[in-house]
Amino acid sequence: MEHKLKASSLEDLINKRRSIRKYKPDMPPEEWINSMLRCASMAPSPSNTQPVRFIRISSTGKREKLYQALVSGKQEFLRAIQSKKEAKRLKNWINTYYRFSEFMFKTPILFAVGTIASYAGFSKKLLEEGILTHNKREETNLDITVGLALKGFILKGEELGLGTCILTGPLVFIPNVEEILGINDVRIKCFITAGFPDEKPDMPPRKSISEILSEI
Ligand SMILES: Cc1cc2nc3c(=O)[nH]c(=O)nc-3n(C[C@H](O)[C@H](O)[C@H](O)COP(=O)(O)O)c2cc1C
Repeated sequence: MEHKLKASSLEDLINKRRSIRKYKPDMPPEEWINSMLRCASMAPSPSNTQPVRFIRISSTGKREKLYQALVSGKQEFLRAIQSKKEAKRLKNWINTYYRFSEFMFKTPILFAVGTIASYAGFSKKLLEEGILTHNKREETNLDITVGLALKGFILKGEELGLGTCILTGPLVFIPNVEEILGINDVRIKCFITAGFPDEKPDMPPRKSISEILSEI
């Protein structure tokens, strides 16, 4: 049987999607955001544990607190590098990462994304039986699962004409993000923005298949 590669709208969406850091002020319809969240919820997860949680940060109070923490984090870093030999280069780095974090406060929709502690069935059983003493893979499972959920979210956004950007930079400046947001059952892994794009970035270069694939 001959297998032909068909033209794919999924591939078009994947290719067209860019991280968007500048948004129009218009608020996307709630229904659109819900459909993005539904796509996120369809992601595979270990033993179908579905540990990913999206926390929408709508309150201006919470956004302001978070922003203040970002600014304090940056100031602390700038103070800490003053006496270093490479202070100038480090300062540029800090300022760049700050810029790549700060824009999230100017977006119509902002989520913190995290996971609840949830041992998957198999490793949980082994832990309970004392066969495993700790579960190093748990973090990997959670990270993979967040990534898969985000992929559904951002691709559905792309299909709807909404831009998104995943951010982990702010977590470097704000180590106690859960405390600031008043969350105690979810560990935050990243932020994600969404809204109507107000920029059209070029595609950053991608590695070829031969660079990312090896065969053994
Ligand atoms: C885990 C992760 C963390 C990221 N953190 C940030 C961030 O803190 N700030 C930012 O502006 N972009 C962030 N990005 C977006 C990347 O910079 C972007 O995906 C990459 O440059 C490729 O560009 P593209 O998404 O437009 O294809 C992050 C992406 C991922 C997957």
